[in-house]
Amino acid sequence: MRQLELLLFFLVCSSSCIFHVSHGRRTMPQKTNDLAPPIRAVNLGGWLVTEGWILPSLFEDIPNKDLLDGTQLQFKSVVQNMYLAAEQGGGTIIVANRTQPSGWETFKLWRIDENTFNLKVFNNQFVTVASDSITVVATVTSPGPGEAFQLVRNDDKTRVRIRAPDGRFMQAKTRDSVTADYDDESTNWDDDDPSVFLLTTATPLHGEYQICNGYGKTKATQVLNDHWSTYIVESDFKFISTSGLNAVRIPVGWWIASDPNPPAPFVGGSLQALDNAFKWAENYNLGVIVDLHAAPGSQNPFEHSASKDGSQEWGTSDENIAQTVQVIDFLASRYADSPSLLAVELLNEPLAPGVSLPVLTKYYKDGYDAVRKHTANAYVIMSNRLSAASTELLDFATGLSGAVIDVHYYNLFTSDFNNLSADQNIEFVRTNRSSDLSIVTRQNGPLTFVGEWVAEWNVRDASKEDYRRFAEIQQDVYGRATFGWAYWTFKNVQERWSMEWMINNGYISLKN
Ligand SMILES: *[C@@H]1O[C@H](CO)[C@@H](O)[C@H](O)[C@H]1NC(C)=O
Ligand SMILES: *[C@@H]1O[C@H](CO)[C@@H](O)[C@H](O)[C@H]1NC(C)=O
Ligand SMILES: *[C@@H]1O[C@H](CO)[C@@H](O)[C@H](O)[C@H]1NC(C)=O
Repeated sequence: MRQLELLLFFLVCSSSCIFHVSHGRRTMPQKTNDLAPPIRAVNLGGWLVTEGWILPSLFEDIPNKDLLDGTQLQFKSVVQNMYLAAEQGGGTIIVANRTQPSGWETFKLWRIDENTFNLKVFNNQFVTVASDSITVVATVTSPGPGEAFQLVRNDDKTRVRIRAPDGRFMQAKTRDSVTADYDDESTNWDDDDPSVFLLTTATPLHGEYQICNGYGKTKATQVLNDHWSTYIVESDFKFISTSGLNAVRIPVGWWIASDPNPPAPFVGGSLQALDNAFKWAENYNLGVIVDLHAAPGSQNPFEHSASKDGSQEWGTSDENIAQTVQVIDFLASRYADSPSLLAVELLNEPLAPGVSLPVLTKYYKDGYDAVRKHTANAYVIMSNRLSAASTELLDFATGLSGAVIDVHYYNLFTSDFNNLSADQNIEFVRTNRSSDLSIVTRQNGPLTFVGEWVAEWNVRDASKEDYRRFAEIQQDVYGRATFGWAYWTFKNVQERWSMEWMINNGYISLKN
């Protein structure tokens, strides 16, 4: 019945109509054609879901800010001149006999406090001291106090000693094993001390998990609430509206649904910011796409899904999926009455094969129904899986009224674009992206949305005119997406990634 009503509405309603849809006991809010496609939107990235590269200064004051959750470390014994390795990748002893650091020689941090960590090895076990109280092994699957190691660094932080829970230090007396039985508190940090290791740290993940756990609850609450209330403000919505855009896509994290007391390490306050966004959107007649960017367990290994350590565990249990549907239900219920609720995006960029297609379509169906419980007219956006065919959701979504497929187009991130000139990039958009988009855009199929794109590329020394043309061709081509497009992002310290900067500096113009 509901399907039929909607179908009739889509058939009958012209682009200028104002409608009321009666659904259950609730009368749906009035919605004007201002919020209908074509959508020209910008992503408020880096606001309610932290990404360090967008605003690095947020991470500056974290103590030991190079040792965050998921940071990858390598330890080279100065005495053996060899790297530590979890033999077999984990499940047995730690050795000190590797000349090259790679997967088995890499240890990922789980941060307990600024000096204390669990060390996760390649096969996902944690380092501990065996029952002989001497041998260091990687055998624990779920770490507790017995796996809490202190990292003690020298002044220039290039050297480290690893203190076991009982207070003694690890040492590499031989290459065949590592023991946790070095008693001497003092060290000169010299090359003859078997408890001293050269430390290599990879660039840490800089996501919501890292910033919250890095600062700890009290300070993180302060830092993030300051950020949420100053980074995006009402005048930004005015700017967006007067620039010729008609919507914003707002990435949110799953913890917003348990505001003000989300599970650790996440902190409360982002819900107030989202409430404000809706008020401002209403004031300036903008649509809001609420985009679940970070799902519980993380749907991809990247910092923007708030992954704890680069692992991807979303969708691996029914409870996890049900919890995610609850988040969608919460968001749809809270904003269903706002005339600015344009769409709910059920999940951003799930990654194949970790997220399987059957799991994803089951979740999308349940998430779709959760939105429809509260609103008949908000669009429901579904992101394709990264690393999968862009057509894989089309049959599934074709039966669902108001469904939209989200594809993200970047001339970056794969080697295809490494050596392209400015003209070749532009030509790629004109031909290849057009074809890709037309393959996803089927008559009677779901609407299509280029939910992320940017006028940045790997071209070195491109001129302003090159950038301008690159932005323009993308607006032209992605303008054929039947739902519309959204630029990634509104504000960004990397100028070309900031649509505000691009507009203010004449690289992007929207008013025709
Ligand atoms: C490192 O030591 C372990 C334990 O003795 C041994 O099994 C392994 O083959 C050694 N690896 C190398 C590269 O020497
Ligand atoms: C790009 O060009 C460089 C040399 O100009 C070459 O070494 C490299 O293989 C090229 N990369 C790709 C992806 O074609
Ligand atoms: C677009 O380019 C990609 C990467 O080179 C390629 O895999 C894909 O098949 C192309 N699509 C079309 C429609 O030509």
